[in-house]
Amino acid sequence: MTADWTLVFKLRNNIPLEGDVELARRELCALTGTTVEPIDADALRTLSVQGWLLPKDVAIHREGTVGFRCQVDTPDLTRLFRRLSFCEQVLAIAPTADASVFRVLPIRLTRVQVVNGRACAVFIPFNAIAEWSDVVARRAKSPKDATALLDFLVDALVAPTPAELSHNVRTIIGAKQTTGHLFHGLHVYKAKFFPRMARAFINLCGGATVLDPFAGSGTALVEAAVMGAPSIGVDIDPLSVAIAQAKAQLLSDDGAVAEAIADVLGRLDASDKGQVSLFEIAETPVAYAITPQFLRHRIPEPELREVEADVAAVLRALRGLPACSPLHIALSDALSRKFKFRFLGLGYGRFSLSILPRRVRAMFVDNLHYLSRSLAVWQWLRAHTGVRPAPIRVLHGDARRLPLADASVDCIVTSPPYMPASSGRENYLKSKAYAMTALGLIAPDAVDALEAEQIGSVQRVGDSEDLPADARAVVEWMQGDPTRCVKAAATASYFVDLRASLREVHRVLKSGGKCAYVVARRHVFYRYQSREVVRIVESADITAQLAMQAGLRLLELVHVELQKQNTVARPRSLDAYYETIVLLQKGEA
Ligand SMILES: C[S@@+](CC[C@H](N)C(=O)[O-])C[C@H]1O[C@@H](n2cnc3c(N)ncnc32)[C@H](O)[C@@H]1O
Repeated sequence: MTADWTLVFKLRNNIPLEGDVELARRELCALTGTTVEPIDADALRTLSVQGWLLPKDVAIHREGTVGFRCQVDTPDLTRLFRRLSFCEQVLAIAPTADASVFRVLPIRLTRVQVVNGRACAVFIPFNAIAEWSDVVARRAKSPKDATALLDFLVDALVAPTPAELSHNVRTIIGAKQTTGHLFHGLHVYKAKFFPRMARAFINLCGGATVLDPFAGSGTALVEAAVMGAPSIGVDIDPLSVAIAQAKAQLLSDDGAVAEAIADVLGRLDASDKGQVSLFEIAETPVAYAITPQFLRHRIPEPELREVEADVAAVLRALRGLPACSPLHIALSDALSRKFKFRFLGLGYGRFSLSILPRRVRAMFVDNLHYLSRSLAVWQWLRAHTGVRPAPIRVLHGDARRLPLADASVDCIVTSPPYMPASSGRENYLKSKAYAMTALGLIAPDAVDALEAEQIGSVQRVGDSEDLPADARAVVEWMQGDPTRCVKAAATASYFVDLRASLREVHRVLKSGGKCAYVVARRHVFYRYQSREVVRIVESADITAQLAMQAGLRLLELVHVELQKQNTVARPRSLDAYYETIVLLQKGEA
């Protein structure tokens, strides 16, 4: 049979930018093994068998693209269901009337019918329902309410007349914020991947096993797991390792975490009612200092005492659970939200601090309720999609000396720290410090020492001598600029460290294996206060040059425009902002 199947892919409604559409196209080509043709809203309506594809609220993307279509011989429907990142519905039209070809798709998310002698199916891919499940988990009042809402949503979408969607359903599928699903929302984390982009990178690189050597909060690992690829994550920061491990644990949880949550909420409630003596501990000053030294003098005494008392009460309620359990991570998240850092000036560690009035203990309780609902929707997803996560291994280690054998991984998807260029970027660790000391991951006076080990730290010193010419030029320019010279050696070190990590990428990749190394496309240096642009550094080009020095083959630089998140953090932050996927390969394909 030759290319007799027709596939129509409808893009998610909330995809805001062209970059995503281009990534979607590339992903579809990779997954179908053929070229795909963009379609506009009119074409979608014409193709939509009996109006099955959601015709309302169609998001119009670049040049009117709302989806793609292609002809294929025999599609791997299971793979498409599990791996697609940007589509909310797929229409598959088989060449014959034999509808049994659709048996591989989950019944709950699929509608099948024979139309004009051809078997047709419309299905919701796993990632779309997973993203919506978090919107549901956030809106629902209880775990039961959350799963009932998911049932309602799916019934409406797979119903015979999906065009008539209720306001409730439209609000869920039109949500703009869909990045907290699959426990991605367990903990705030700066500079993390958009989950669907991490998926797309994994699809572009292919490969059976995935490594993220700068794993951070574990976004790529979680996505690899639900796509069916075993993954390994490495990070130098113990809190990142703990967050990623907690997410891995939640994905394979069999009900133990929900029980622990009920238990801990019960203990906190009992202490509130004075049934146990927890409150005494909560009111008693803690015997040990958990507040990092650099913060002590910045937090007013009453707040300091209140936070330390809350942390002590929560830790007491968590007693008996393994260290760094998902519930500990819920405490870490509450602490990370309580103190908001805004780094100032040229990035030498100066920051302003705002303290949320809401108590850590109350935020922790909110987190546990949200976690219960997230667990319930995850169990629903497992039951109705048949997806079983592949194993995740998270290691505390250094990307410059990976604890892995030569030629042991098929694909690498990662994003290293930013270069110490723009203000404040290198101080992320400081904003995690309170959570780390509260969880006992580091001593309150050890924050600076840990920061100094991180790639991108201003405390590091390196030599630019054998770096590529573009990298050397940046360092030399900084050396000659009175306001930047103190960061010149740190910037040289950053490039040297990045190259060391790329050498490790080369060492651990199997021959022919691919790597998506995701960096900011460029760094813009501004004159402090006047905000005049003084230099633009094409950092993605430099990364590509470092990768080639490390022995890797440059396949392509893919620039992806991202939405502005924060209009106050960066000077001129309304300028277009791009991340670049530096697509690399070890040896020949
Ligand atoms: C941009 S973040 C990665 C975020 C991640 N993609 C996510 O989705 O959460 C960069 C990470 O690199 C880590 N890091 C810094 N220096 C490192 C090193 N030498 N080895 C391994 N990880 C390092 C930081 O702790 C941080 O978690």
